[in-house]
Amino acid sequence: MKVLVCVSSKTGNTLKVASAIQEALPDAELYKVENAPPSASYDLIFMGFWVDKGTADEKAQEYMATIGSKKVALFATLGAYPDSAHADDSLKNAAALLPDCEIEGRYICQGAIDPKLIAWMEKLPSEHPHSPDEARRKRWADAASHPDAQDCQRAADWAVELYQRIASFQGGVAVSG
Ligand SMILES: Cc1cc2nc3c(=O)[nH]c(=O)nc-3n(C[C@H](O)[C@H](O)[C@H](O)COP(=O)(O)O)c2cc1C
Repeated sequence: MKVLVCVSSKTGNTLKVASAIQEALPDAELYKVENAPPSASYDLIFMGFWVDKGTADEKAQEYMATIGSKKVALFATLGAYPDSAHADDSLKNAAALLPDCEIEGRYICQGAIDPKLIAWMEKLPSEHPHSPDEARRKRWADAASHPDAQDCQRAADWAVELYQRIASFQGGVAVSG
């Protein structure tokens, strides 16, 4: 089974997760989205993006628009908490960009927010929807240490389980349990 790990990453967070996935699946090919080959010859695509305005970032979206009807596993990093409604919505919004694909799984974890963005938000007037408050500053501080080793291990475990499930079906044998 040919596996592509394609990742869009501006500051390196999502690339860390992509590398953990690739290391767990030794035959998988890892490409940054800027250099990724067409998806046509792959059986399974791990598509990674960073969350921008509640969906996949623009470069990821450009590549996703070229994926036809494929098996896709989505993974992402974001500033918000991974168990938040925002994280769930962001994955759903990204999945909606691939209406012809089978979404085989999703993984999301926090990623440190670019300090330049934080500096910009710190200057916003209090009436602005993104102006800092205690909860927001705590979330930024919590995000700063992610993705950490545990996030990467979880992503690797998720990818291996997903790969094995699909490979067993590709071979025509359904594994029970
Ligand atoms: C311009 C910009 C927009 C962002 N929008 C969101 C957002 O809508 N929701 C969110 O939770 N995080 C948002 N973030 C945080 C990033 O998704 C997060 O830091 C991510 O880990 C960056 O990944 P990267 O290092 O792979 O580029 C935004 C960051 C930037 C720079």
